[in-house]
Amino acid sequence: MPLCWFLCGLTTMSQDLGKQEEDLAESKMQWFKEAKLGVFIHWGLYAVNGIDESWSFYNGYISHEDYLKQTKGFSAKNYDPLAWADLIKKSGAKYSVITAKHHDGFALWNTKFGNLNALESSPTKRDLIAPFVKALRRNNLKVGIYFSLPDWSYADYTHFTRDSIRYKIVDRPQRWNTFLNYSQGQLKELSENYNPDLWWFDGDWEHTSEEWQAPKVRQLLLNHNPKAILNSRLQGYGDYSTPEQGMPITRPKDKYWELCMTMNNSWGYQKNDRDYKTIDQIIGIFTDVISNGGNLLLDIGPKADGSIPKEQVEILKGLGEWTNKHKEAIYGTAAGIPKEHFYGPTTLSKDRKILYLFIKGDPKGEIVVRGLKNKINRIWVVGEGTKLSHKVVGKVYWSHYPGITYIQVPEHVLDKQMTVLALLLNDEVDLYREDGAVIESN
Ligand code: GLC
Repeated sequence: MPLCWFLCGLTTMSQDLGKQEEDLAESKMQWFKEAKLGVFIHWGLYAVNGIDESWSFYNGYISHEDYLKQTKGFSAKNYDPLAWADLIKKSGAKYSVITAKHHDGFALWNTKFGNLNALESSPTKRDLIAPFVKALRRNNLKVGIYFSLPDWSYADYTHFTRDSIRYKIVDRPQRWNTFLNYSQGQLKELSENYNPDLWWFDGDWEHTSEEWQAPKVRQLLLNHNPKAILNSRLQGYGDYSTPEQGMPITRPKDKYWELCMTMNNSWGYQKNDRDYKTIDQIIGIFTDVISNGGNLLLDIGPKADGSIPKEQVEILKGLGEWTNKHKEAIYGTAAGIPKEHFYGPTTLSKDRKILYLFIKGDPKGEIVVRGLKNKINRIWVVGEGTKLSHKVVGKVYWSHYPGITYIQVPEHVLDKQMTVLALLLNDEVDLYREDGAVIESN
C-alpha cells in the first residue's frame, strides 16, 4: 500500500473524529446557548451569621470553630423548593445552579462521604438538593450543581486557612489520595442521585489539573451523562468560560461563556448588604451579555430558614416581566452586530434576518442604525406591536455605501425599562464595513 494512502487515510480518519467531537459538543451546548439566563443560588450555613461564604474563616475574620457553629442555626424551616423553582421560572431563567457544596465543605445533600452535611450536622435533617432538583425538572428547567473542588474543612484536604496549609501533596501523596477518593465519591454520588445537566466547579486555582485528576473527573461525569456540560473551572477541562462579576467590555472570544454576577455585593445572604443593583442596571447588563453571545447567571442568596430575601424576589419578578414581554428578542438568538452600527445592545434571530435593537431610556424621537446594507421590510416594537417607519439618509448613488437609517420611536411605545425594536430584513443581515469612498467623476 503506498504510504500516502495509509497516512492520508489516517488524517481523514482523525479529521472525521475531530468533526464528530465538534458536532457532539455543539449539540450538547445547544440548550445552554439558547438559555441566556440562569439563576445561581448560594445557600449554606454562612447565611446564619450573614458572613462571607467560606472565605470568612479562610481569611481569618472568624475562627473555623465559630464558623461551623452556624450549622446549629441552619434550619431551612421555610424552605419551599417548589416556590423557588416557580420564581426562577417566572424570572425567565432556563436553568439554575445551586451550591451543593461550597469551599467550607458543608454538603446540602444526603452524602455517605464525610459527615459535614445538612442531615447530620444541622437541624434540617434532610436532603435539600433532591427536592429542588425535582422542582426544577417539573418546571422544565435545567439543573446545575455547583461543587467546590477545595474542601477546607476536610481533615485530609491540603489547605485550611490563608495562613495554614495542612500538608504538601509531594510529602503526603497517600493523604491526598484519601481526599480524592472522598471528593470523587461525592461527585459520583451527586451524578448518580441527581444527574445534573451542568456542573459548576469552583476553586480549581488551588491545584493543578494533574493534582485534581481533572481528565478523570471529567470522564467520570461524562460516563454517567455524556451530555453533561462542565464549566471552565476544572483547570482546562471544561466546556465554557465563566467571567465573574465584571461584564466583559470587549466581546469574549470564547464560543460559550457565562457571566456570573451578584445582585448586591455578596453571593450568600448577608443581612448587612443592601447595595442592590437596580432592575434597570440588571436588565442593562443582561442585554450587554446576550448582545455579546453569552449567558447571565444571576445570583440569589437565600436565608438560613430557606426564604428568599424580598429584594431578590422583587428583582427576579421585575426581570421576569421584562424577559417575558421581550422573549422573541432573547431566547435562541445569536450575538448582535458590531457596536459601530448601533450604539447599544443587539441580537439576531437564528436565521439572521431579524435584527433586534435594545434601546435604553428615552431616545428622544429617533434612533440610528449605521451602514445596514439590507432593505428593511418592517419594523415593530417587540411585545407591544406598533409598526414604526424609518428613513435612510446619506445614501449616495455612486457608491454601495448604504447610508444611515433613522427610526422614529414615539414616546407612547416606550417600555419602562428597555424598549426593543425588531427590524425584519429582506435577507440575512449585511453590514457595510469598508472605508468611505470618494466620488471620481461628477
Ligand atoms: C468565587 C468565590 C466563591 C463564589 C464564586 C462564584 O470563586 O470563591 O465564593 O462562590 O466565586 O463565582
